[in-house]
Amino acid sequence: MTTIKSVSKESRVFDPPAAFAERARVGSRARYDELYRRSVEDPEGFWAEQARELHWFREPTTIRQWDPPFAKWFEDGTTNLAYNCLDRHVAEGRGDKTAFIWEGEPGETLTLSYAELTREVRRFANALLGAGVAQGDRVVIYMGMVPEAAIAMLACARIGAVHSVIFGGFAADAVRDRILDAGATTVITQDGAWRRGKVVELKAQVDKALESCPEVARTIVLRRTGNEITMAVGRDLEWADVLEGVSDEHEAPALAAEHPLFILYTSGTTGTPKGVLHTTGGYMVGTYVTSKYVFDLRDDDVYWCTADVGWITGHSYIVYGPLANGATVVMYEGAPNHPGLDRFWEIVAKHRVTIFYTAPTAIRAFIKWGDEHPGKHDLGSLRLLGTVGEPINPEAWIWYRRVIGGDRCPIIDTWWQTETGGIMMSPLPGAIAAKPGSCTLPFFGVSPKILREDGSEAGPNEGGYLVIDQPWPSMLRTVWGNEERFRKGYFSRFPGKYFTGDGARRDEDGYFWVMGRVDDVVNVSGHRLGTAELESALVAHPAVAEAAVVARPDELTGQALVAFVTLKGTVTPSAELKKALADHVGEEIGKFARPASVRFADAVPKTRSGKIMRRLLAELAAGKEPAGDVTTLEDISVLAKLRGEDE
Ligand code: WT7
Repeated sequence: MTTIKSVSKESRVFDPPAAFAERARVGSRARYDELYRRSVEDPEGFWAEQARELHWFREPTTIRQWDPPFAKWFEDGTTNLAYNCLDRHVAEGRGDKTAFIWEGEPGETLTLSYAELTREVRRFANALLGAGVAQGDRVVIYMGMVPEAAIAMLACARIGAVHSVIFGGFAADAVRDRILDAGATTVITQDGAWRRGKVVELKAQVDKALESCPEVARTIVLRRTGNEITMAVGRDLEWADVLEGVSDEHEAPALAAEHPLFILYTSGTTGTPKGVLHTTGGYMVGTYVTSKYVFDLRDDDVYWCTADVGWITGHSYIVYGPLANGATVVMYEGAPNHPGLDRFWEIVAKHRVTIFYTAPTAIRAFIKWGDEHPGKHDLGSLRLLGTVGEPINPEAWIWYRRVIGGDRCPIIDTWWQTETGGIMMSPLPGAIAAKPGSCTLPFFGVSPKILREDGSEAGPNEGGYLVIDQPWPSMLRTVWGNEERFRKGYFSRFPGKYFTGDGARRDEDGYFWVMGRVDDVVNVSGHRLGTAELESALVAHPAVAEAAVVARPDELTGQALVAFVTLKGTVTPSAELKKALADHVGEEIGKFARPASVRFADAVPKTRSGKIMRRLLAELAAGKEPAGDVTTLEDISVLAKLRGEDE
């Protein structure tokens, strides 16, 4: 195998706006360089100092232990993550500050101050203990985007129960598999969740899942949508009942830094779900510090991350990181296009959101829907924009900056993973000049390297495998119940180093460009190309809203490229356009990269976290019926529609 070749030619550079840099926590490149150097030259000193900003019942004296692949952080320290997110702020006089501004899909708004949230979490912690949940027990949380989901997470963290949040879009089989793998004995759910004006019946899915989960002793069911549900006597408890008469006094116990905090199953485009395990102290410090510096959080910010709590982004950057910083967090229950295509912008304007964090897949949808929707609202409160989840194509980046950010807001392109727990690479918005499509430079303490097949370091602009060769506080500790999978999956390709699974290159300025999963690399006439860059070239064409590129076997070239293309709303499909798009890629990247075929599609199949399922498309392109796991597919009808399309 030859190394991955990078073909992106983006060269625009955007300096941090002076007005932003002036007030930023890190306001210059020189200051970043100084802090970064300190963090990698003296990681123990650096992280000990960061950890001291949080509350420990016993201060850690051992900071970092590294016996690859096993890391321990702050091991002799004891703390409580929920205490740090809640009681600490109340004790320090910030109890009246708003913690959550929650907006329901039907339109209601609820605000919870830090004092109120602390009280609710204490009560629910008492309710869990009263129901028989003990420290170390696994608790599945299968809910929509309601404040109670965050309350349930924080209550588990508080009593030392290990939560596993399952995204509410998953169905019974996926829920069952995760409950069984985690060995969960409690499930917290709701009657139903609102999604695009309809009820998603969560409790009914739980009922089905529990037919094969005899170890589950109890469920706790929140009433949200009021749909009819069945309650199994002796097993199912009402949320309101378990809280009845429960005290709001609860002293947070001192938990060991390495006490298991949560298991989160990765969305994964292939294979069976993996339970990524995060532990208390390192995850707490990592998400606290990254939230503070990457989002440049200030006391008066109104911060909104549009992710679902069912994903790592929701764990780290809706709940734990921002609350540990005492931030005001917007939480929205529903879909971006309900009741109108401007719902997000209405929310930004209504709550005067200052920091907005979303995914490239959402940004491409906004572009497709048209500029008139953000145009209807005053987005002048925004000061910082972020993205996460996949490489952002430069055209989407530029649109985001111009239309949403009014050419005024810096953009942070944050690269990280479920496994890394927190942001690993991103510009610090007041310090680092941005290049559209690059996640720029590593965060403090992060040591990324790009390696060739043989383990040697790749040169400038040479594509290779992205690894992290030093431990960091919020790294996964293992794969739940499967140490073998942990070693093999992450530490075997380059022994002793964490392999991310991504391909990347580093440019002449030392900036990182992530090219996507190495599994998504295609090989055409001996060129190994990352599909994300090919897709980015397609999306740069004015007719294209979204693209997915895969390879099919070809006698002549080894593999031939097939592009699945979703057109912008106003564009008419035609054979000429197919040819024009293929030519466009040939011109942008090189003749060898010209797709052999272009297929128009209403939508491309995606996982529920917005990642294109190229495996399915590759099977379709090869003329095969997609086999294997489709439980993570967001909309199964997309697949059926694609089957019919002829070339
Ligand atoms: C994979 C991790 C981290 C929260 C959401 C996804 C891709 C993520 C970026 C980015 C390029 C990115 C990578 C990574 N990815 N952010 N800013 N630029 N690629 O979490 O489901 O664990 O996926 O998402 O391929 O490995 P996840």
